[in-house]
Parts: sequence; C-alpha cells; structure tokens
Amino acid sequence: MGSLTHEGELEAVAFAAEAWSSEAILYVNGVRRVLPDGLAHITLLQYLRDIGLTGTKLGCGEGGCGACTVMVSDYDRSAKKSVHYAVNACLAPLYSVEGMHVITVEGLGCYQSGLHPVQESLAQAHGSQCGFCTPGFLMSMYALLRSNKIPPSEEQIEECLSGNLCRCTGYRPIIDSFRVFAKSDNSLYIKSSNTPSGEFVCPTTGKPCSCGGREVHSNGSLTDNATFSRCGPVSHSDTDGSFYIEKELIFPPELLLRNNLPLKLHGFGGINWYRPLRLEHLLHLKSLYPEAKLVVGNTEEFLKKLVAERDVQETSSCRAISDQLKWFAGKQVKNVASVGGNICTASPISDLNPIWIAARAEFLIVNFMGNIRKVHAKEFFIGYRKLILPKSHRREDDIALVNAGMRVHLKDEDSNWKVSDVSIVYGGVAPVPLIAARTETFLVGKIWDKKLLLEAIKVLKDNVPLAENAPGGMVEFRKSLTLSFFFKFFLWVTQKMNENGCFKEVLDDAHLSAIQANHRSCSSASQRYEILERGTAVGLPMVHQSARLQVSGMAEYTDDTPTPPNTLHAVLVLSKKAHARILSIDDTLARTSPGFAGLF
Ligand SMILES: Cc1cc2nc3c(=O)[nH]c(=O)nc-3n(C[C@H](O)[C@H](O)[C@H](O)COP(=O)(O)OP(=O)(O)OC[C@H]3O[C@@H](n4cnc5c(N)ncnc54)[C@H](O)[C@@H]3O)c2cc1C
Ligand code: FES
Ligand code: FES
Repeated sequence: MGSLTHEGELEAVAFAAEAWSSEAILYVNGVRRVLPDGLAHITLLQYLRDIGLTGTKLGCGEGGCGACTVMVSDYDRSAKKSVHYAVNACLAPLYSVEGMHVITVEGLGCYQSGLHPVQESLAQAHGSQCGFCTPGFLMSMYALLRSNKIPPSEEQIEECLSGNLCRCTGYRPIIDSFRVFAKSDNSLYIKSSNTPSGEFVCPTTGKPCSCGGREVHSNGSLTDNATFSRCGPVSHSDTDGSFYIEKELIFPPELLLRNNLPLKLHGFGGINWYRPLRLEHLLHLKSLYPEAKLVVGNTEEFLKKLVAERDVQETSSCRAISDQLKWFAGKQVKNVASVGGNICTASPISDLNPIWIAARAEFLIVNFMGNIRKVHAKEFFIGYRKLILPKSHRREDDIALVNAGMRVHLKDEDSNWKVSDVSIVYGGVAPVPLIAARTETFLVGKIWDKKLLLEAIKVLKDNVPLAENAPGGMVEFRKSLTLSFFFKFFLWVTQKMNENGCFKEVLDDAHLSAIQANHRSCSSASQRYEILERGTAVGLPMVHQSARLQVSGMAEYTDDTPTPPNTLHAVLVLSKKAHARILSIDDTLARTSPGFAGLF
C-alpha cells in the first residue's frame, strides 16, 4: 500500500494495464459501509468519529495512549482464517483498513440491551473514573479474547494493555477486572473464597490473607457490618455473559469471499492512495514517486517463526531482535508497525538498528527492474534520519536514550579464548548508530577475561564521545550507560561460555543480577478502605452512575457533542509578547479566510 503526494505523468503509461479500482468498502460493527473516494488524508479515528461513533477517543494522536484502540478483523487467505488485532485508530490511514471489519466499543454491547462481559466486569470492578481511557482498554482486552481460542494468561492480559494509559483510575481495578478472563483458578476470583481452614483467599494474590473480602452487592448494600473492605475483582460468574443478549459480531461473510482489488484513491491536498497487489507494481510506483511513504504491516510474527524453525546458532541475532521487541512500544503499534519501517525511519534511537549493524546484517534493496542491491547495515544510514534511499519523514519526536547492539566471536587458541571478531554499536549517542571502531580493533586478538574488561572500558570511555550539550541531555548518565552495556555484555558472554563448559571465569555473584532476564511478574495490588454505613450511599463502594455509559462508549465528552448547524466558532488571538500595547491589528489574512464572521 502506498500513500503518495503527487501524480506523475508517467503513471498513465506505466499502469495502463493495471485495473485500479476506487471501490472501497469497510464493515464497522457489522454494518457495511462504502468508503467514498477523496478521504486518503483522514485517519480511521476521524472517520469513526465523523460517522457518530464517538466512543473511540482522541487522546495523544500519536500512538502513545491507546484511547483510540479499535479491533480490526481481516481474512488471512493463506491461513484460511480471520485474524483479529488491536490497532491505534489515530495512526491508521482510513483506506488501510479497506475490506476489513472494524469493531469499536459500541460494537461490544450497549447500556440498554446488555453489556459484553468485559464491559460489565470493568464497570463492576470500579475500573473507570473519568472513563476517557476506558473504551481503549476494553478494545485491547476484547481483541485479545477474540484472537485467543483458549483463555489468555495473566501475562498476556497485561501485555495486551501495554499500549493503554490511564491517568486517573489507576491500573489495579482495570487489571483485576480483566483478570477474571485469564486461565487461572476461577475460584480465586469468586467473592469470599476460603481455604479449607476457613482463611479468606485474597483474589488478587491467590494467597490466604486478612484483607477480608466482604460481600458487596452491585447495589452497594453489605451483608455484614464490616468496617474495612477491599476493592476486589468481581467473580467470573458475574461476567460470563448471561446478561449479554447481543450476539458477538461475526466476521462478515462478504469479506471472506471478496477478492482484494488494486486500489487507487485520492485525498485532500493532492494525496493519492495506492494499494498495489503485486511487488513489481509497488516497485514501479516507488520508482515514480521515490518520496512516497509505504504502509506495510507487522513483521514481528515472521521473526518469531524464523527463530522457532532454525538452529539456535543461526538465529542468535534474530533472537536478540525478537527479545528487543518485547520492550518496544505497545501491542497496538507492534500489531501494525514493520521492521522495514523502523529501519527506514532511520531514527538515531531506534532499538533495532544497532543490533542490525552489530549482527553485520545486509539489507536487500530492490528496484522496479527487479535488480537487487546488497548494502551492509552500517553503510545504510548516512546522517540524521538519512538513508542511502530517499524517504518521507515521520513526525513524532525523538526520545533521547542510549541503546546498544554487541556481538563477539571467540576462538580457542591453546586453551585461551581469544576475540576473533567483534561488533560494538550504540544508538542514541550520535545522528547515526555509532560503531565503536577503536574499541573493536583493540579487542581483536585479546583473551576474553577480566583484564580485557577493565582495559576495554578505558578505551570505550574515549571512543563514544557525547558532548556536554548533546541533544537529549543527561550526558553523564548516558555516558555511564554506554560503559554499563559493555560490562553487561561481558558478563553475559562469560556466563554463556561457563554454561557451555568452555571456560571457568569466576563471576562475582553481586554482578550476576545485571544479566538476569528482566522479567516483570504480573502486577498485584489491593486497595483497603473504610466502609461507613450511614444508611445512605455515601461511604459505600457502589458502581458509579456513569460507569456503564463509559464502558459502552455512550458517555459524552465535550468534543463528542455534535456541533449544531451554523455554529459560530470563536478563538482568542494571543499576543506573542507579554504586556504588549496593541497599536494596530492586521486582519487581512483572517478576513480572506472562508467563513470569517468578525474580529472583536
Ligand atoms: C507509540 C510508538 C512507540 C514506538 N516505540 C518504539 C520503540 O520503543 N523503539 C523503536 O525503535 N521504535 C519505536 N517506534 C517506532 C516504530 O518502530 C516505527 O514507527 C515503526 O516500526 C515504523 O513501521 P511502519 O511499518 O509503521 O513504517 P512507516 O511509518 O509506515 O514507514 C516509515 C518509513 O519507512 C519507509 N518504509 C517502510 N517500509 C519500507 C520498506 N520495506 N522498504 C523501504 N522503505 C520502507 C516508509 O516509506 C516511511 O518513509 C515507536 C512508534 C510509535 C508510534
Ligand atoms: S489517541 Fe493516543 S494512541 Fe491514538
Ligand atoms: S484516564 Fe482512565 S479513567 Fe480517567
């Protein structure tokens, strides 16, 4: 797929044979919609909100908060099954979901005809306060449930929420409300479950505890006169869907049978949207419009498959990339972002580019004639966000930090393991990934031992320059990180060699924690609060009045309110200088703007 910014003369000749279509359709919550031409400039989020589905919210607008999460279902022709995944509607160009089924929070269930179990659970577990983030959380969870045949694990639930932010409720009630759908012991989540000895089992930790799970009915009344209670999750039986009378939306049969057509559509500002179906057509378009942006799709699954199929030695670099992806953005971004896009963004802080260079990766550049050129990763990046290829730019800001990719080959020479080849590459310290060439040269031929570590650190210190005024600041911290990464790498390699019985370098126990896999266990927390029975609702843990509106996307926020026809908009014109005396105002530009009413 490609989004292009100008029309070429050559195109008519080159693509005369290609039957471009402008017939675009989309299913939204089970309803078929024809997408008119002329919308190539808008996102899926804008479209959904324009057709009145304002449950999907606009938060950051750049993939960071997850408020705009929707579920997209597509038919995978090779696997012959429909696939479901969460995406950020604020980043998805509208036409990128052509021929797919989009489900928004309104498609799950609604206040009047019954909420979906995930919605009911979130409402009952007090998982929404202002409710702005709520539809996004629900859609991430719903996409996980739809894409799993068996109940997900608690880890999967937390991972699927990694791209969703909540700024006011806090994550405990949200995660607790979804945990009831995990494949764990349901009895742990049933209110007031007890051990054989009669102790109360904490639903959050699954262990006996004294927090006292008092029974609180959904109307807020209590079965005993507890003075303290905890805000625990509801039981699975409360949310098994017995009150849910809507049918789960199926994948539209029309989309199963429909063959994708090559698309050509337009948008405001001269934007053209192409969806070529064959690589040669894509390459031809790219040769006509070298600056055009490619929109491709997820490559994470491909890496996982490769790692699973091939030998460990053969795939150590792919493993490193795959491991790195765990710490990368949220699930919604990973579902659609491609490795090619990450490379071609040429960000100096890309988490992957230092690894490609350290792994001595070669990139294949294909032109429309089918000629393939191999380029070493280290020669691919030529400046700040510059490649040897022409490219369009991403608008998001950089976040300054340091990352690194390192690789070493050790050779046994007379019972000494010596460095025969090594790569040390840092990201985030220079406009392009920085190869610590002097340190690499220093290391080759040296015996891999503690002496090497101490000497290499000295060389590395001067080899990775970071000026005091380097963009991103925190210079001392980042400098120390560059050395720490090498230290960690040394420990990791030494430990691996020890495990394989190659040598017995004694590692200090205190240092070993540096190479332990950074595994975050599932969150657990509880909230204790006092219940005061005054004969009123005050002091009782009741489900708040807006909760069921928020979980169904029916709660209306200021920018969800439709503007009445002929609404007059007003904006304040601000002075660029404080305490300025206004002598005159040049309003010529304003007066010539369409719809100008007056300057007051
Ligand atoms: C919220 C968020 C969090 C992120 N977090 C991280 C992070 O933690 N670490 C990190 O490293 N990155 C991070 N990124 C960046 C992310 O990895 C890249 O934006 C993403 O991989 C780009 O992939 P894409 O398919 O969307 O590419 P696009 O944005 O669609 O494309 C990027 C550029 O590459 C070109 N291009 C794409 N594919 C090809 C190809 N096959 N051949 C030639 N040119 C191509 C396009 O034309 C375009 O110029 C984050 C991004 C977001 C939005
Ligand atoms: S609005 Fe924040 S991720 Fe889309
Ligand atoms: S931001 Fe999550 S409920 Fe307000």
